[in-house]
Amino acid sequence: MMKLELYTERLFLRPVREDDLDLALEILTDDDVMRYAGGTSTPRDIRDDMHIITRRCGDGCIGIWCVIDRGTGEKLGTAILLPMPIEEPDTNWDLINGGDIPDCDIEIGYLLKPSAWGKGYATEAAARLLQFAFEDSPLETIFACFDEDNHASRHVLEKIGLAFESNRMTYAEVSPVYWISKQQWQDLK
Ligand SMILES: CC(C)(COP(=O)(O)OP(=O)(O)OC[C@H]1O[C@@H](n2cnc3c(N)ncnc32)[C@H](O)[C@@H]1OP(=O)(O)O)[C@@H](O)C(=O)NCCC(=O)NCCS
Repeated sequence: MMKLELYTERLFLRPVREDDLDLALEILTDDDVMRYAGGTSTPRDIRDDMHIITRRCGDGCIGIWCVIDRGTGEKLGTAILLPMPIEEPDTNWDLINGGDIPDCDIEIGYLLKPSAWGKGYATEAAARLLQFAFEDSPLETIFACFDEDNHASRHVLEKIGLAFESNRMTYAEVSPVYWISKQQWQDLK
């Protein structure tokens, strides 16, 4: 079984669970967090969806992680490795079942609550997840997409080594897609 608990200097990442409803409610209803991430959801929809957003596949390596402050135990947000929606409005959760890695592009992403912004946490969490993807999982290429105006997200991706690939229709919008291959990641070290 793959080890899905990941540590960095300041953070602990573990698979998201149904009892992370508190965190999900906090970030997914926040206008500032969701501005470039598809807009907010209602508390009722979030409760109903917890059993879906905790799904994993590919021996656990595809899914959502809860990002936790190692010092205080506070839940700061989430980081993901999930199928990137291409020509689709949202993640296709039907692809996430069974032992296999879905045959599609896998995206890295992150949502942190505003009190955690500006401290390098997204970069720290995403760098660790990329290391997991290329050292522990069978993934060979990682993609990411973001709103053109989301400069902080672009910067995080650049800091962890991703570069522009193309503009694509993702999450029902044309957005820049960035990517990195396992070989490119190894060459950065
Ligand atoms: C995007 C997000 C994850 C960044 O988290 P963070 O922990 O603040 O990011 P980091 O501190 O690791 O790095 C952000 C970098 O972008 C820079 N940055 C922040 N805002 C910026 C802006 N408006 N313009 C240019 N650069 C900006 C920061 O200075 C930092 O770079 P530096 O290390 O060179 O100083 C966080 O703002 C967030 O959760 N936003 C809402 C959800 C979201 O949009 N997620 C991404 C969806 S694609």
